[in-house]
Amino acid sequence: MKTRTVFKDKNKLSPRYVPGKLVDREGEFRELVRLFHHVLEEGGSQRVIVCGSLGSGRTILTRVFAREMRKFGKKRGIDILPVYADCRKDRTPREVLGRLQRACDLEKPVRGVSYASILERVVEQLKSRGAYLAIILDDLDFLIPRNGSDFLYMTTRVGEELGERNPISLIGVSGEPSVLARLDSATQSTYQHNRVVLEDYDRRQLRRILEDRAKAAFTKDSIKGEVLDYILGSEPRVPERDRLGS
Ligand SMILES: Nc1ncnc2c1ncn2[C@@H]1O[C@H](COP(=O)(O)OP(=O)(O)O)[C@@H](O)[C@H]1O
Ligand SMILES: [Mg+2]
Repeated sequence: MKTRTVFKDKNKLSPRYVPGKLVDREGEFRELVRLFHHVLEEGGSQRVIVCGSLGSGRTILTRVFAREMRKFGKKRGIDILPVYADCRKDRTPREVLGRLQRACDLEKPVRGVSYASILERVVEQLKSRGAYLAIILDDLDFLIPRNGSDFLYMTTRVGEELGERNPISLIGVSGEPSVLARLDSATQSTYQHNRVVLEDYDRRQLRRILEDRAKAAFTKDSIKGEVLDYILGSEPRVPERDRLGS
């Protein structure tokens, strides 16, 4: 017997789902393309901060951009490896470095080895593959109190210290436009002109996001417009884990 279901594709409701197309973020997406133009065309590195409040689409924008970077680079013969780290989970540079190592097929970090030497090995590996790394540090605010500033500094200077071109790009995602104030002045100056700020969505935009997602996830006519209005009207709750200091 065939079971009836309201779902067309439940995966579309997952927080990890990355839609094919974003609602109303073309301008911000283009701004990222502009900032990364040289990396996409010929390889190299760039550093950008994306900020906005919770729910403004920072995670999804950077994830879509990472996916497109990979595809775009491939077309031009440039091997860009995007690495996504959620700093609410990966709260120390060592955990983030572990992700970079895995992305480059290096074995797990050995205890006692300094961050700088792990990073150097990552860079050597990238060089030997002719590849570039694009790190997304989502919710960077959770990393900064624990050596986050050092980590940003290190990934910025790594090429210089080796006397080579830096193959590592970084996109930091933050909840506060003032995030830069907590970084050392050298790192601040690297990032200050490369900021993409996401304004909060208005009701109309939120409605379109909900409609698109409902269409993708549920069978036709199973979700009524009033349900979407009800969701739009309800107060968003900020989960405990999304609050800084938790
Ligand atoms: N422009 C958009 N188009 C489609 N879905 C979006 C868009 N912006 C946000 N979303 C969706 O809204 C939810 C919240 O977005 P998210 O990127 O997690 O926000 P933030 O990281 O800023 O808190 C996610 O499910 C995301 O997929
Ligand atoms: Mg997010």
